[in-house]
Amino acid sequence: MNFSSLSTLDSQDLRCSLSERAKQIEITLDKLLPKTKGGEATLVEAMRYAVLGGGKRLRGYLVTEVASLFNVDIKKSLFVGASVEMLHAYSLIHDDLPAMDDDNLRRGKPSAHIQFGEAIAILAGDALQTKAFEILSMEDVEENAQKRIELVKSLAEASGAIGMVGGQVIDIEGENRHLTLPEILNLHAMKTGRLICYAAEAGAILGGASPDMRNRIISYGRDLGTAFQIADDVLDATASAEELGKTVGKDSAAGKSTFVTLLGIEDARKEAKRLIEKAKRHLNFFDENANNLRALAEYVITRKN
Ligand code: IPE
Ligand code: IPE
Ligand code: MG
Ligand code: MG
Ligand code: MG
Repeated sequence: MNFSSLSTLDSQDLRCSLSERAKQIEITLDKLLPKTKGGEATLVEAMRYAVLGGGKRLRGYLVTEVASLFNVDIKKSLFVGASVEMLHAYSLIHDDLPAMDDDNLRRGKPSAHIQFGEAIAILAGDALQTKAFEILSMEDVEENAQKRIELVKSLAEASGAIGMVGGQVIDIEGENRHLTLPEILNLHAMKTGRLICYAAEAGAILGGASPDMRNRIISYGRDLGTAFQIADDVLDATASAEELGKTVGKDSAAGKSTFVTLLGIEDARKEAKRLIEKAKRHLNFFDENANNLRALAEYVITRKN
């Protein structure tokens, strides 16, 4: 049976679902990162500052929604969702540093290095990254050791030299150099797409999905992730700092090659839409339980922040 024609959820329903889940993710993050009184207290404060109290929680949502397709206990998938949100928060701290995008505003607050200084911000990013892996290694999170290893390996690949960090290098080296469309597609797939794709895949790993199911989910996550970054480029050129909670117009100011600089706003939107239609086709095999994932795909390109 083909479920492609199933109507997706109303976007308002998706927004409610996302904000409810964001609250659960927030509670999970708070428990995983308690305040401390030792010599590391300031570091932990900076970690909590960067990861708590903001963000759309799209990556955490993806983990839990995909996992729910395979009837995974939400307690488990929330831990894994919190782990990927920590990894993501680390990437944002480092992305905002003066040596990178030199951005003062993140999630409507001063960036971590403005609040805590560069040294603590860098170290908070480092510690959030290692904490993300620590969580994946915990037996309380997933009792099956093989699954834990797969979660760790996939996150390492998605966030390292062939994933997010490699993409950030291409991004920085691409400043003031014209990138071609295939180069930008690759950049977006690496710096942002890989981690979003991992979030989807993690849900499938937790669920013990068959290789075929896992590949469909990976394909969905890959297209969704690239479309997400194209939408980020469009928002950088079209939205306000109040809406986004981060500085706007910074891509063109930094001389970055983006979908917008290469194609213009309208064609960038069309490319994102094309990828989102493709992402949804990868879900055709799944029944109405995947409707939140279908609605999420629409949300990625219609979101205002
Ligand atoms: C921002 O990601 C960085 C990119 C990869 C474009 P998000 O737009 O998901 O940021 P938060 O987590 O909602 O703040
Ligand atoms: C960041 O891309 C991607 C990351 C890996 C953090 P951007 O530099 O466009 O993200 P924003 O716009 O600062 O959130
Ligand atoms: Mg950047
Ligand atoms: Mg940036
Ligand atoms: Mg951006």
